[in-house]
Amino acid sequence: MRLIVLGSAAGGGFPQWNCNCVNCRRARAGDPNATPRTQSALAASADGERWLLLNASPDLRQQIQATPALHPRRGVRHSPLAAVLATNADVDHIGGLINLREGQPLALYASQRVHAVLDGNRIFEVLDREIVPRRTLDLDETMPVRDAVGAPIGLSIQIFAVPGKVALYMERPDADSAGAAGDTVAVRLVDEASGRQAFYVPNCARLDADLARRLSGASLVFFDGTLFRDDEMIRAGLSQKSGRRMGHVSMDGPDGALAGFADLDVGRKVFVHVNNSNPALLADSPERARVEAAGWQVAHDGLEIEI
Ligand code: MLT
Ligand code: MN
Ligand code: ZN
Repeated sequence: MRLIVLGSAAGGGFPQWNCNCVNCRRARAGDPNATPRTQSALAASADGERWLLLNASPDLRQQIQATPALHPRRGVRHSPLAAVLATNADVDHIGGLINLREGQPLALYASQRVHAVLDGNRIFEVLDREIVPRRTLDLDETMPVRDAVGAPIGLSIQIFAVPGKVALYMERPDADSAGAAGDTVAVRLVDEASGRQAFYVPNCARLDADLARRLSGASLVFFDGTLFRDDEMIRAGLSQKSGRRMGHVSMDGPDGALAGFADLDVGRKVFVHVNNSNPALLADSPERARVEAAGWQVAHDGLEIEI
């Protein structure tokens, strides 16, 4: 299986258009230790020919352009993208769906909860349902990924609920933002020929016992690396919200990912969905050194992993 991190940043990207934080300033200045990153997306393929897109970010057009494996190859209209899966309904994970219009057949996969949000927004009808079938994935069920006309692409997927929250724009003052099972999912990807597996967990509010059990012994995990410290956006004056309130476990701290994964026996651990405020984005920061000393890699755009 080939996996390409198309976008390694969280919502807003790095640098974020209106952000003047230290990190974003360094990225904008061309600092080699502050490499710009686009918003959260991953591509996976069993054969290198047909690809599953995991999350359609608002930067999708640029991500496809930067990734030769995703360029059209045949005829006058073609795309190696056979299917797309959204792991939640956040803007950074569905905004790019509108780039996939132009009459290109592909299959659109999501949980019932995420489909309900898409179904409720008429703008997504630009994906003509006749040629872009919407397929609902049941939680915990493993099934083959099929293209628009039903041909399997050699990958199986299983989605499962992880602690998260409803999309920011779906929050209501009178309702708990924690949402319901299926608002935020993680994905287990299986190469059907080799049996190799990878986990993709770009959003996760808490590393609970169920998730720890599922990930334990995995050879490759892409995991939510939004913040280094739970209060880093508050301290930097960027936001009033903690990471927890935004639905993200932080890297640091007693409940953080570094501590939580320490005993999980995961082969390769890669942080994705990294927010522009996160000091571990900077290649020369002490936080990056800590992350790497704990056996993690901070993804960059274009990072390709073959398993
Ligand atoms: C998140 O992952 O926290 C969201 O992408 C936030 C947002 O919608 O901007
Ligand atoms: Mn996000
Ligand atoms: Zn910033």
